[in-house]
Amino acid sequence: MENLYKIPEHVAIIMDGNGRWARRRGLPRVFGHREGAKRVEEVIDFARDVGIKWLTVFAFSTENWGRPKEEVEAIMSLLVEYINKKVPELIKRDIRLRFMGRIDELPEMIKKSVEEGEEATKECGSMNFVVALNYSGKAEIIDAVNKAIKSGKQNITEEDFKQFLYIPEMPEPDLLIRTSGEERISNFMLWQTAYTEFYFTETLWPDFNREEFLKALYEYQSRERRFGKVLT
Ligand code: IPE
Ligand code: IPE
Ligand code: MG
Repeated sequence: MENLYKIPEHVAIIMDGNGRWARRRGLPRVFGHREGAKRVEEVIDFARDVGIKWLTVFAFSTENWGRPKEEVEAIMSLLVEYINKKVPELIKRDIRLRFMGRIDELPEMIKKSVEEGEEATKECGSMNFVVALNYSGKAEIIDAVNKAIKSGKQNITEEDFKQFLYIPEMPEPDLLIRTSGEERISNFMLWQTAYTEFYFTETLWPDFNREEFLKALYEYQSRERRFGKVLT
């Protein structure tokens, strides 16, 4: 860990490849989601240990409702199970749990877990763990625009606009990791990734461990971020 001098403040992850992981083992896709959930726990611990302040994971997109009913139901019950079980550990580790997405549209049972999880961890300050749930980057922008209209503003700046996003104080991701070999954004944080460094790996999400995370961090450290400027 001695080499970890340039730690990103915010790491976002598109956790992809659960279905393929299961299929390669001749198992139903749901098994991949279950195994993937275990990797989330390891990644949270690792992120906190190295001093990352914001960790965001893409858990379920607004487009994922288009999957077979059994798969959607399995993902939703895994989520509830996960939140209810993990909250005490998050509190112990001083990690604040937050959600972003169209939470209002979720079934009552999930909304309840989401609200309780956020409430129970709201005083925690070592790291923010954000779960993007029923999330779409386009929807977030549209929701922000509608909030801006409702607020009565006639004209807004970028700074004003940020205040209407789901989590206004969230810094933009420094590093975005996507597993499973897909190299696309799939409607994840469209506004916030304007200058994010992207890291793609063939590793499927259920195989993504501390070592894989470390590889992504080393790669990040080797990048030169210019933000449109010329470095002297
Ligand atoms: C990511 O794994 C988890 C969710 C989108 C909920 P996938 O389920 O997309 O796995 P693949 O891409 O089909 O392998
Ligand atoms: C993106 O993965 C969404 C999540 C990881 C939750 P998908 O598997 O849904 O994305 P596509 O369909 O391959 O673009
Ligand atoms: Mg996928």
